[in-house]
Amino acid sequence: MNTLEFKAIGVVKSQFKSLEEMPIQPTGDLASPGYLEIEESYVEGLKDLDGFSHLYILYHFHKVKQSKLLVKPFMDDAVHGVFATRAPVRPNAIGMSVVAIDRIEGCRIYIQNLDVLDGTPLLDIKPYVPAFDLPQAPVRVGWLDKPAEAIQARKSDQRFV
Ligand SMILES: C[S@@+](CC[C@H](N)C(=O)[O-])C[C@H]1O[C@@H](n2cnc3c(N)ncnc32)[C@H](O)[C@@H]1O
Repeated sequence: MNTLEFKAIGVVKSQFKSLEEMPIQPTGDLASPGYLEIEESYVEGLKDLDGFSHLYILYHFHKVKQSKLLVKPFMDDAVHGVFATRAPVRPNAIGMSVVAIDRIEGCRIYIQNLDVLDGTPLLDIKPYVPAFDLPQAPVRVGWLDKPAEAIQARKSDQRFV
């Protein structure tokens, strides 16, 4: 197996200092503000990002110290294969969220809808482009076929650390 090494391009700053009671997805709290603090050496790469309203952020679930192939996720009491979930305890502890951009000021990208712990290392950001990312065929969402209210009602806990 290849061992890969990534460098953080910055850090996620959010209001969530503890895993307890934080949102479990961006749509779990649409008002949840925060910002991405980009390392000075990467700031040139933000040129023209201000033309986009939404952003994919990719980050390292840095508090997770284990990996599991079968998990009981936040959204269900049944056990599922980790790759059929968004649980943090993955072989590569990489998280991905779509967030709304408020504004960009220097090395800071102010965003909304965060489901990420404060201090999380940021691996990459990419603009959200519906013409690239919205599937045209009917979409099936398996066991995650839950109403939006269910996502807002569930909150995080410490089960994965
Ligand atoms: C279910 S994951 C979903 C994250 C992302 N939207 C995704 O789909 O990859 C969100 C949960 O990950 C956990 N979490 C967030 N940041 C973390 C971090 N830096 N280390 C460990 N766990 C974290 C919290 O429990 C949070 O509620």
